[in-house]
Amino acid sequence: MSNVPIIILKEGTEEVREKEARKQNITAMVAIAETVRSTLGPKGMSKMLVDSLGDVTITNDGAEILKNLDIENIAANMMVNVAKSIDEDIGDGTTSAVIFSAALLNNALELVEQGIHPRPITHGYKLAADKALSIIKEISIKISSDDDEVLKNAAKTAMNSKDIAPLKDFFADLALKAIKQIADEKGNNFAKVSNVKIVKAPGKSLKDTELINGVYTQKEKVNAMMPVSIKDARIAVIRRKLDVKKTEFDAQVRISSPSDIQKFLDQEDKILLDYLKIFKDLGVNMVVNSSDISDKFGAYLAKEGIAAIKSVGESDYKSILKAVGAKLVDDLTSLSEDDLGFAERIHFEKLGDDEYTLFTGCKNPKSVSILIKGGLDKILSTAEVSLNDVLSVIAKIIDTKTVVAGGGAIYIELAKRIRTYANEISGKEQLAVNAFALALEEIPKTLIKNAGLAEIEKLTELRAAHKTDDDKWVGIDTITNTIGDNYKRGIVEPAELINHIIKSGSELANLILRVDRIISAKGSRPEGL
Ligand SMILES: Nc1ncnc2c1ncn2[C@@H]1O[C@H](COP(=O)(O)OP(=O)(O)O)[C@@H](O)[C@H]1O
Ligand SMILES: [Mg+2]
Repeated sequence: MSNVPIIILKEGTEEVREKEARKQNITAMVAIAETVRSTLGPKGMSKMLVDSLGDVTITNDGAEILKNLDIENIAANMMVNVAKSIDEDIGDGTTSAVIFSAALLNNALELVEQGIHPRPITHGYKLAADKALSIIKEISIKISSDDDEVLKNAAKTAMNSKDIAPLKDFFADLALKAIKQIADEKGNNFAKVSNVKIVKAPGKSLKDTELINGVYTQKEKVNAMMPVSIKDARIAVIRRKLDVKKTEFDAQVRISSPSDIQKFLDQEDKILLDYLKIFKDLGVNMVVNSSDISDKFGAYLAKEGIAAIKSVGESDYKSILKAVGAKLVDDLTSLSEDDLGFAERIHFEKLGDDEYTLFTGCKNPKSVSILIKGGLDKILSTAEVSLNDVLSVIAKIIDTKTVVAGGGAIYIELAKRIRTYANEISGKEQLAVNAFALALEEIPKTLIKNAGLAEIEKLTELRAAHKTDDDKWVGIDTITNTIGDNYKRGIVEPAELINHIIKSGSELANLILRVDRIISAKGSRPEGL
């Protein structure tokens, strides 16, 4: 952070500089929004990303494009970061967040150019954002965590704008099963999506993708003589170096006579054989160690028909613990039946170029894997990113249990109610509240435009269709190009997604509006102004 220019947030006195700084920031942010605007929604267009080495990626994922932009303006960078935070939290909504905050800023700029001071604008925006959040709270639909149809609809809505859209039914089923498996009995604790591990494997088509009730770990057995497959596995998951310290050994060599070395080796053997006995006594036939296993000990284990993997990373052994129901043990002497995990089968296999250990047939595993199959690497990677987003969306809804209708419906309804609210507000703030409503409509407007339909005409039609409370979910379906009740048609999104877009979009807009100068910190190159 040492080289970034400092943004001074205090209202300044130099009118000219102030206006220029603001305009410069807003222009940069609007430019970013323009680069991703045409990707929004099911009819979004793809962009071709070319990196400095000439590698080409084609994507219609706003998040992916933003990640790859080389942006100089810091305000624009802040916008990208807000978008990323939404993507991390919800797994979706990046493009919408960018379009919305750019629209807020653009509308604010117009007001500023009409001579309105930024202060009432930011105040009005804050009022409108708070109001929008309370409206969402009031009108969003409460569902239960076993309302599978809504959950699947949300998954499909998220997939509408992705490359895997043609297989959305298939992937919605698979993703829902995966999340249900890792959620707790009450359907709460959507658990971390990281408990669904996605593994890419060669195959004919994405349709061969499978949900595995168990986990894949990218590890090979430590000794070639170990069994390739283990039935009725009794698994010890440990964090203990199965080796005798090298330093001890070196010290012995330096100061000892040959007979002492032999003594040490005997001693080493004794320690290792003691370890081995602990495993044998408990009938352990698989050892998962987050620490090292010496070659010698690996050979001992192999001789006993016990398989093992070593140096297993934290996230991997945590998944294994959750899948097989084992407890992590540091002190081997305390290892007991209670600590062991179980799997009907463990198998060592090669997927593509990598070696994996697969634990399957686990009882009620709290960690599962999705094995994505497909031919081309790029297709697999895109599917992996998309599937991750879909899992996050389902998890978010199970966690928050509220949804709204997409396809612009929620934004049109919010804009309508916020315009009514604006009437209660006097002064310049009222103009800002109305500008906020207009910015909300930028999302349906963009969906319409990207579908090649007449923006103004369809937007007017949508506004007019929102007459009573019963019409609140009327939106556009840009797959069929029709206007109708989008909740009934299954176009649904987590309410939390809209909350997030509104909250961070308006906070960011306000932050930028308050900037009156950009000063470069010592040693940095001037940016912005
Ligand atoms: N069938 C549909 N018709 C119209 N809009 C849709 C449909 N399915 C999804 N959408 C909308 O597409 C938008 C999401 O587009 P997307 O390209 O994924 O952008 P983001 O990065 O914001 O998620 C949401 O507003 C969602 O409601
Ligand atoms: Mg999306």
